[in-house]
Amino acid sequence: MGQGMLDEEVAMSARVFRVLRTVLWVSIALVGVGLATLLLAFPRSQPAAELTIEPTPERLERGRYLVEHVANCLDCHSERDWSYYGGPVVRGTEGQGAALRVLRPHIQSANITPPALGEWSDGEIVRAITSGIGRDGRALNPFMPYDTYARMIEGDVYSLVSYLRTLPPIENDVPRPEESWPIRLIGRVLPRPYVAPEAIDRGVTAAYGRYLVEIAECGFCHGADFSGGRMFQIPGTSQKFPSENITPHPSNRIGAWSRENFVGVFRSFAPPGGREIPGHEINTVMPWSRYAGMSEDDLGAIYEYLRTIEPVEQDEPE
Ligand code: HEC
Ligand code: HEC
Repeated sequence: MGQGMLDEEVAMSARVFRVLRTVLWVSIALVGVGLATLLLAFPRSQPAAELTIEPTPERLERGRYLVEHVANCLDCHSERDWSYYGGPVVRGTEGQGAALRVLRPHIQSANITPPALGEWSDGEIVRAITSGIGRDGRALNPFMPYDTYARMIEGDVYSLVSYLRTLPPIENDVPRPEESWPIRLIGRVLPRPYVAPEAIDRGVTAAYGRYLVEIAECGFCHGADFSGGRMFQIPGTSQKFPSENITPHPSNRIGAWSRENFVGVFRSFAPPGGREIPGHEINTVMPWSRYAGMSEDDLGAIYEYLRTIEPVEQDEPE
C-alpha cells in the first residue's frame, strides 16, 4: 500500500469528520431555534373575548344538561365513588377538582366552582374551555380536553359558563398538575384560538348525534374508529377490561341493537347514583349513570350517528 493512498484516506476521514461536525452543529442550532420558537411563539397568545354572558334560564338549563349528562366535566373535576357502577360523582364534590384516577392518577384537575373562578371574566372562562389558556395566559395541561370543546357551538359554551357560575361554592386549593417535559411541549403547541362552528339543529339526526358523540368524548375511550379495545382499570381495584367495539358490525353486540334497544340500555342505568353494585365484583368506567339522563331524542341521535360509521369486525376473544 503506497503512502499516497494513506494520505488520501487521512484526508478523506478529515473531510468526513468536518461534514459530521457541521451536521452536528446545524442539528444543535435547529433544535435551539425550535425550542426558542416553542417558548416564544406558543401558546399562541390571544386576548380573552370581552363579553358578558347573560345567565338566561335557557342557558342555565342547557348548561346543566351538558355538564351533568353529556360532557365529562364533572367526571374529571370531582371525586367519584367507585363502589357504585360507573363511578358516579360524589355529591358535594361537584367541580372541586380531583386526581384523574381513571386516566392519570398523578394529574389533578382544577377547582371550577365559583370561589376558584370568581375573579375570572366570562371571556377568560370561554378561552380556558375552548383554547386551553389559563387566566394568567399559561397553557393548561392537555388532559383538559379543550381541543374537543373547541368544536362546541358558541351557545353551548356560553351555557357551560353560565352553569359553572351556579355550582355550589367549594373552597379547595388544587395544585397545578405536575407535567413531564413532552406533555409541557404538547401543551404549549396545542392551544388555538376558538373559531365557533356553525350552529347545528338539534334533532334525531346522525349530524346532531355526531356532535354529541364528539363533546361526550365517546371516541376517547372507544377509539377514533370506535372499534374499542382500549384497556381501563377500575380505581382502587385490579379489575381491568377493554372498551367495547361500538361500530355497527354484525359481529358486535351493538350491531344487532335497534334504536329502542340502545336507548333502553342507556336508560336502564338512570340515576340516582347509578346502579349499586355488590362490592367490587364487576364495575365499569363507562359513565352509564350520567349518560342515562340524556333525553331519548339525544340518545336516538347518537344511535343514528353510530349506524353511519365504518363497521369494524369484532376481534375474536382469545
Ligand atoms: C379528562 C379530564 C377533564 C375533563 C373531561 C374536563 N376537564 Fe377541565 N381540566 C382538567 C385538568 C387536568 C385541568 C387542569 C389544567 C391545568 O391546571 O393545567 C382542567 C382545567 C380546567 C379549567 C381551568 C381552571 C384553572 O384554574 O386554570 C376550566 C375552566 C375547566 N377545566 C373547565 C372544564 C369544563 C367546563 C369541562 C367540561 C365541558 C371540563 N373542564 C372537562 C381536566 C378535565
Ligand atoms: C371513560 C371511558 C368511556 C367513555 C367516555 C364512553 N365509554 Fe362506552 N364503554 C366504555 C367501556 C370500558 C365499556 C365496556 C364496559 C361496559 O360495557 O360498561 C363501554 C361500553 C359501551 C357500550 C356497550 C357495548 C356492548 O357491546 O355492551 C356502549 C353501547 C357504549 N359504551 C357506548 C358509548 C357511547 C355512545 C359513549 C359516548 C356518549 C361512550 N360509550 C363513552 C368506556 C367508555
